[in-house]
Amino acid sequence: MKVLSVFTSKGGSGKSTLAIHMAVLASQQKRQNRVLMLDYDVQESSTYWTRTRKAETPPVLPADPGSFTGYLEQAAEEGLDLVVVDMPPHSATQADLVLSRSDLVLVPVRPGALDIWAIETTVKAINDNGARGIFVLNQVPSRGAEADETEEILSQLAPQIPVAKSRLGYRKPFSSALNAGLAITEFAGPREKAAQEATALFAEIKRNLK
Ligand SMILES: Nc1ncnc2c1ncn2[C@@H]1O[C@H](COP(=O)(O)OP(=O)(O)OP(=O)(O)O)[C@@H](O)[C@H]1O
Ligand SMILES: [Mg+2]
Repeated sequence: MKVLSVFTSKGGSGKSTLAIHMAVLASQQKRQNRVLMLDYDVQESSTYWTRTRKAETPPVLPADPGSFTGYLEQAAEEGLDLVVVDMPPHSATQADLVLSRSDLVLVPVRPGALDIWAIETTVKAINDNGARGIFVLNQVPSRGAEADETEEILSQLAPQIPVAKSRLGYRKPFSSALNAGLAITEFAGPREKAAQEATALFAEIKRNLK
């Protein structure tokens, strides 16, 4: 069983969006993965998402502090393949615990200075907990060099944390899908750019989880 967490101290950068997409894509695999989502987001975005969602997979548990180890033990006993953890935008008490138990930590970063300035505390938390991280550029504008510049700066600031090759563009269908209780691959056809990006990112993350 693998633990994939989504973490950054910067609010609104796409943690819940990434967590939901990785969990849904994993459970949609041909050889269906058994996936559980734990929602540590104080705004409970993933939990709200399930209220509109008709499908029962992946299950999302509103996680309270202190429950993490118990959930993991239970998930392992039940033979689950993947636990995806959506984290809050600040270092909560359980962040160290979650990071130290994660096989991989996705760190969404929006291109631009504001997200880069905030990255130091996130990188420190990942390093302090001996976790393995990967940056994911999210909400990338369709034009301009900002994403490439951000990638360059990230690789200087944290050379030990790679930047995913797959990026997610700033695309309205990502939020429309979530509003409908769906992931983009359930909401739009395979020709939709956002669906292609999410699928490519999932494939890359899956390789990194091995
Ligand atoms: N690639 C994208 N394209 C368009 N909109 C996006 C994209 N990623 C995220 N969003 C939108 O940006 C907002 C913030 O995203 P999200 O809630 O996933 O971030 P978060 O990091 O979980 O936020 P918080 O720190 O508040 O928990 C949401 O309205 C979401 O729909
Ligand atoms: Mg969130």
